[in-house]
Amino acid sequence: MSFEIWENARLATMQEGQDANYGLIEDGALVVEGERLAWVGMRAEMPAQYRHGAVLHDAHHALITPGLIDCHTHLVYGGHRANEFELRLNGASYEDIARAGGGIKSTVQATRLATEAQLFEAATKRLTNLLKEGVTTLEVKSGYGLSLAQEAKCLRVARQLAQHHPVQIKNTFLGAHAVPPEFQDNPDAYIDSVVAMIEPLKAEGLIDAVDAFCDRIGFTYSQTEKVFKEAQRLNLPVKLHAEQLTDSHGASLAAQYGALSCDHLEWLSEEGAAAMSKAGTVAVLLPGAFYFLRETKLPPIELLRQHQVPMAISTDSNPGSSPCTSILLMLNMACTFMRLTPQEALAGVTRIAAQALGLKDRGSLNAAQRADFVLWDVKHPAELAYAFGSNPCLSTIWGGRVRETPSVQNHH
Ligand code: NIG
Ligand code: FE
Repeated sequence: MSFEIWENARLATMQEGQDANYGLIEDGALVVEGERLAWVGMRAEMPAQYRHGAVLHDAHHALITPGLIDCHTHLVYGGHRANEFELRLNGASYEDIARAGGGIKSTVQATRLATEAQLFEAATKRLTNLLKEGVTTLEVKSGYGLSLAQEAKCLRVARQLAQHHPVQIKNTFLGAHAVPPEFQDNPDAYIDSVVAMIEPLKAEGLIDAVDAFCDRIGFTYSQTEKVFKEAQRLNLPVKLHAEQLTDSHGASLAAQYGALSCDHLEWLSEEGAAAMSKAGTVAVLLPGAFYFLRETKLPPIELLRQHQVPMAISTDSNPGSSPCTSILLMLNMACTFMRLTPQEALAGVTRIAAQALGLKDRGSLNAAQRADFVLWDVKHPAELAYAFGSNPCLSTIWGGRVRETPSVQNHH
């Protein structure tokens, strides 16, 4: 049995209950055994047995945090929507564009035309940016294919991304993202077909959870419920794009189905927050979408705190509302726009993000958790949320192994 020891570091363990101060350990040590952490604590207290024949790594006074977790992305898609960005700057709104057949639908068209190899290549560039900032686990949603074959294509690409890159990916089926053109006048019939896609996609091993977009440009409460019923029948956890543009009571609905998370939540009501609290549902805040759509209504952070709803932060990386591949920028925006504390924000991309994905084996530095952690060129964890436009990631350890720094990928 051989151990690897990481020492000469300050640890932000983000352990539960230690929230007041990031679970900080000055002069800490991490003992890694295989893919797991065997021991975490103050170096002076490390049991002598671990030193026997151990490989020593000097962290040179780096700050070490858990690997970052991006729990809400739409990373696999074709094309981009810079044209719509221009339209918005010329006066159109996100909803106007969606209603005129642009928005999600234009990405659906581009995604359907793309091959798996093309989607893989485009998503790899985006993934590479996330990896460079210490992301070790992420979620990828489908929702730009909108037919069984096209959704399966995108979900397979997500599985391939995880096979070919040192990262773990949870796949979420978001068939109920928009109504595709062939069902334009019959959203209910489309929902029936979404319901029918879940079982075969699950049988192919392509999905880990089911999501829907419940809003006035998405699906209604009862359409969403049909999707959730089928997910529940198949034992798949659910989550929801809820109350982004209106209060559609999606959060309460999702909570009834024991949702892992409700995401966006700008228009969340007190009733919705209470339901989430009772169900243990995580609130996923998406400051990139809030910023890029120039929303003015903030998610009710104080209400979430009062009801002790855990808050995660994510990029929502997607071509329409958040063309962003920087989790560190989201930390900053969660603090500046949403007034989270740097400590809440860091928990939101570590321990709480793991909870939003239903993962119990990561998200904090704890014995028996996965050895996913990041060395940062900062002294204090607040610096991670404070600075923006820079990347102090020194190296990432994923499953106990130092991860190769991904090479810089250019656009052309
Ligand atoms: O999370 N709200 C729905 N879905 C995405 C946006 C998708 C798009 O505009 O392409 C979101 O914001
Ligand atoms: Fe989203």
